[in-house]
Amino acid sequence: MFSSVMTMQADAYLKCIDPKCGLEYAIESTNVECEKGHMLDVKYKNKPSDSLKEIFYERRNSQGNIFNESGVWRFRELLNFCQIDTEDIEQCSKNLVSLDGAEGRLSKPYHMSKAAEFVGISNDNLWLQPEGYNPSGSFKDNGMATAVTHAKMIGAKKIVCASTGNTSAAAGMFAANEGINCDVYIPAGQIAPGKLSQAYQFGAQIVEVDGNFDDALKQSLDDAKNHDGYTVNSINPFRIEGQKTIPFRALEYLNWEAPDWIVYPGGALGNTSSCGKALMELYEWGWIKKIPRIAVINSEGASTLSDLYNGKFEDEELRWNKGNPNTELISRYYDHLDKEGLRPKTKATAIQIGRPANILKGLRALEFTNGVVTTVSDSDMLDAMSVVGLNGFDCEMASGASAVGVKKLINEGIINKDDKIVGILTGRQKDAMLPVDYHNNPKNEFANPPKN
Ligand code: F0G
Repeated sequence: MFSSVMTMQADAYLKCIDPKCGLEYAIESTNVECEKGHMLDVKYKNKPSDSLKEIFYERRNSQGNIFNESGVWRFRELLNFCQIDTEDIEQCSKNLVSLDGAEGRLSKPYHMSKAAEFVGISNDNLWLQPEGYNPSGSFKDNGMATAVTHAKMIGAKKIVCASTGNTSAAAGMFAANEGINCDVYIPAGQIAPGKLSQAYQFGAQIVEVDGNFDDALKQSLDDAKNHDGYTVNSINPFRIEGQKTIPFRALEYLNWEAPDWIVYPGGALGNTSSCGKALMELYEWGWIKKIPRIAVINSEGASTLSDLYNGKFEDEELRWNKGNPNTELISRYYDHLDKEGLRPKTKATAIQIGRPANILKGLRALEFTNGVVTTVSDSDMLDAMSVVGLNGFDCEMASGASAVGVKKLINEGIINKDDKIVGILTGRQKDAMLPVDYHNNPKNEFANPPKN
């Protein structure tokens, strides 16, 4: 199954993330890991000139080109794994998957005064970047555009994923648009109705798994392997390429002056991994002079990364450790969860994940950026989701983790009040009853109950 070692003239290739292993594969490979079982990165031989900053800026006047309109493909030189002439519209149209330029088009950082007040910081120092205005309603469209581009490049007939909901919506949408099949594995009864209905609407084949997301991921990987499916979960390195454009857009709007912090909710850690890779590349190329710190916010009920990173399991603080992470500690933690019957449990179902598949890339990102990890409660996330709404922006409960996570880290003195912070609001509301229930309960801090 493993494709042959890369041909040396290629500009883009795959490389194992383990520095002691470092196996390389041709860009056409569909492996999500090397033959020793380590994750892969997309690597580029060329160092992009920072004069591209000007070109990216000019493309915001799209001149009718959907690949300029797209907030993903606008940065196509920085994710040119197709190795095409990026100025040639015909080559772009033939190769790059896009929903008419809509992915990433509306996402950029905004000041939100009510959210800043809630967090307890000056409005000038906090930006929140809604990714919910992507065509399928979450940040997943950024990475799905690139993963499905790679699927198309290798001629895949079917894409496969496991999902807490948003991934399946994005996968279903692009698959339908490209005329390829899509199987989605979902934890039965544990995903927001709005997400499930999108997968049906886009014609995806839903496979209900009696278990949680971690079980669904295992089953979907087996299906992909045994039935020639192409995996589009974030363990796919091409997903990570597209998700790099989330920090690219944030940095561009800040004139490439890095903020002090970039804050994400933590689930499978694809976002953390892609932000880390984006920052590593930009720093290496000299595009940014300062490295923002990444803060990952877990739910209290699904806190694997926080537990391990903060030394709450066996008193050891798990680190990337320059490519020598203590993977046995991770295995023992998972064994411990199984033995004690501990299942991830949070109302923020998007991040109800016990075994973050990208944990090693996530740790690498945290080490590079001197990052931090913390947890927030369900009621904190609901409050933050509601406050974001008061600024006229819609986000889902898991996204509330970014805003309330900043609040918590400020209260703990980890984030300073004069730091500049970008928080990512990962998806829009797809569980219509959640805000209704929140506002009908006067005990909730920001509830605005109905009058009669
Ligand atoms: N926020 C939202 C709205 C999500 O849907 C997810 C993940 C995350 C945050 C966590 O991001 O995995 O990169 O750490 N949802 C996945 C899904 C797992 O299947 O839709 P992550």
